[in-house]
Parts: sequence; structure tokens; C-alpha cells
Amino acid sequence: MGNSTVTTSRVVRFESFGGPEELQICEVPVPQAGPGQIRVRVTAAGLNPMDWFMTSDAETAARFGLSLPCGFGTDYAGVVDQVGAGVSGFAAGDRVFGGALSRAVADHVLVDVAGTIAAGGEAHRTPDGVDDRTAATLAIAGCTAAAALAVVEPGPGDTVLIGGAGGGVGVFAVQLARLAGARVIGTGSATSAGALRALGAEPVTYGDGLAGRVRALAPGGVTAAVDLHGADAAQAARELGVPDERITAIAARIDGIRPANGADAAPQAVEEIAGLVAAGRLRVPIAASFPVEQIRAAVELQAGRHVHGKVVIDL
Ligand SMILES: NC(=O)c1ccc[n+]([C@@H]2O[C@H](COP(=O)([O-])OP(=O)(O)OC[C@H]3O[C@@H](n4cnc5c(N)ncnc54)[C@H](OP(=O)(O)O)[C@@H]3O)[C@@H](O)[C@H]2O)c1
Repeated sequence: MGNSTVTTSRVVRFESFGGPEELQICEVPVPQAGPGQIRVRVTAAGLNPMDWFMTSDAETAARFGLSLPCGFGTDYAGVVDQVGAGVSGFAAGDRVFGGALSRAVADHVLVDVAGTIAAGGEAHRTPDGVDDRTAATLAIAGCTAAAALAVVEPGPGDTVLIGGAGGGVGVFAVQLARLAGARVIGTGSATSAGALRALGAEPVTYGDGLAGRVRALAPGGVTAAVDLHGADAAQAARELGVPDERITAIAARIDGIRPANGADAAPQAVEEIAGLVAAGRLRVPIAASFPVEQIRAAVELQAGRHVHGKVVIDL
């Protein structure tokens, strides 16, 4: 794949919205880059919960502007293999990564160089020292972690409680908070303790009695909280006296608490994170990688919601 003699391209898509059993691998003509577009030969696509959430039924898909036949997956990395008219700043052979809403798991993806993840796609140069599997995990989870931390602004002297700390967004949030100088306490199941410690977090199990366990770990108090799973860590933080303005959540609406959204991340956030990876200051655990033929198994693993780090599809 990826050279000019190739005429067809594999694309993972839905002919009917639903669970992973509805995902099909289809052969389509290789798409051609139009004006303002680059074509990326995708080599890796990272999975996120939003991928299967958005496409779980027609009504939800419509809210995200998706219609049938619909592609799958948003985070990608690969190599530019065609450049449309009027594009400057990208050339064939450039390594790129970014997001293209619900169409990333395909051999070829068209990206509007002036677009956004939700509209036309977004591309960034992949720095040397960042492999494609890792680059394919950065756009959604990295931006979401950055947006969440921008709400609570952790720094030296802070003790931050992060709920769901070992998941896709958690691995970025924990490390970014540590790089900002904060102490991090991260929730996970008992089996996640080692993975959380490896990221720089002090592990605490989620579930009933969370506030008491956190108090025991940090008798001096918690000063900020980021809930990446639901509302339990946010509620525990409130019980521990953290003011609402230093609590945020990405997966639940909580009265009085400002939510965070990846789309609100600072424009340079994802490139800064890629730079930290390239510099060896931040690492992305890849929980599992699957060939595209095993897309359904990959989505089932991700949807189980107990992965440590990211799940990546190889193309
Ligand atoms: N607002 C936005 O812009 C935005 C962007 C991205 C994601 N999200 C949402 O944020 C959430 C997290 O995304 P993600 O990519 O990090 O998901 P993920 O990778 O699927 O998260 C998996 C993690 O969740 C943990 N977990 C499972 N049950 C838990 C519980 N009861 N309490 C605390 N943690 C628990 C697991 O820990 P154990 O294995 O130890 O159980 C696992 O490490 C999802 O709901 C996603 O849809 C929102």
C-alpha cells in the first residue's frame, strides 16, 4: 500500500450503526487529495471511547454529524503520500499525526490542512523520536488531558486527585501534572497500582470509601482534582474540601463544576505533548496493538474500559 500503483484502499466502516459486530473492512478506490488537502497513508490509528460511543446508534451519530456509510476511529498517524493544490507546509513523505473524526481507521485519510478534528481533519508533523503507534494516541487523549489540567492549573505544592488515572486520558494527565510539579494520587483498580506508580502517581483504589483512602494517603489535604471516569473522584475531592473551581471532569456533568473538553485545549497543546514524548519526558503505554483485520476485538477490548494506556490499530 501507499505507492502510486495502488488503486484500492481498506477502510473500516459501518453500513449500519451499532456495536463492534457492525464494523466491516471494505475496499474502496484510493481517495484523491482535493485543493487544500493532504492524503495520509495511515500506519496506525489509536482508539478512544468516543469512537464507539459516537457510532453506537443513529441518533447519537447524528449528534456528531455522522451518517452512513460511516468510517471509524479518529486518532491517526502516518505519512503524507499526496498533496492537493494550494497546500504549503506539507510534502509527500512527511510524517504526520492528528485527528479526523470517525474516519481514521483506513489505509488513506484525506485531511484539510486548515481543518479541525471535527471538520476536515487536523494534521501535525510527527517529531523524530516519536514512533507512529505513539503519535496515533496523542490528539484526542493528549488534548483532553491538557484541557482538563488547564482548568485546575496544577503546580508545585499541589496534590491532585485524578480519577481513572490509568486510562487513555489518565496516562497523559498524570504525567503532565507531575511535570508541572504536582503530587498526583490516581484512582484505579487494585491491578492498576503498578501501572499508576510507573506513571508517577500514587495509586488508590476507586469505589466506596475513596475520600477516606485519599485522606489517609494525603493527610495534609488534596488541592485539586480531575475526574476522568465519572463523578466519584470529583465528589471525593469535594468531601476533602477541594473548592469547586479546582475540580474538573471530562466524562460527567456535575453541578457547579466546570467540565473540560479536548476541543478546548490550547492550540499548541498537542505539539507540546509530542515534543515531550520526543524528548523522553512523557511516555505513552500502548496497552495492545491489533492488525486492522482484528478491529472488532480491538474495539471490544477498549470498550471494556479497563485498558492501561492506549489501544492502537496497525494498518
Ligand atoms: N470531554 C472530552 O473531551 C473527552 C475526551 C476524551 C475522553 N472523554 C471521556 O473520558 C472518559 C475517559 O476516557 P479514556 O480514553 O481515558 O478511557 P479509557 O482509556 O477507556 O479508561 C480506562 C480506564 O478507566 C478506569 N476505570 C474503570 N472503571 C473505573 C471506575 N469505576 N472509576 C475510576 N476509573 C475506572 C480503568 O482503570 P482500571 O483498569 O484500574 O479499572 C482504566 O484504566 C471516557 O468516558 C471518555 O468518553 C471525554
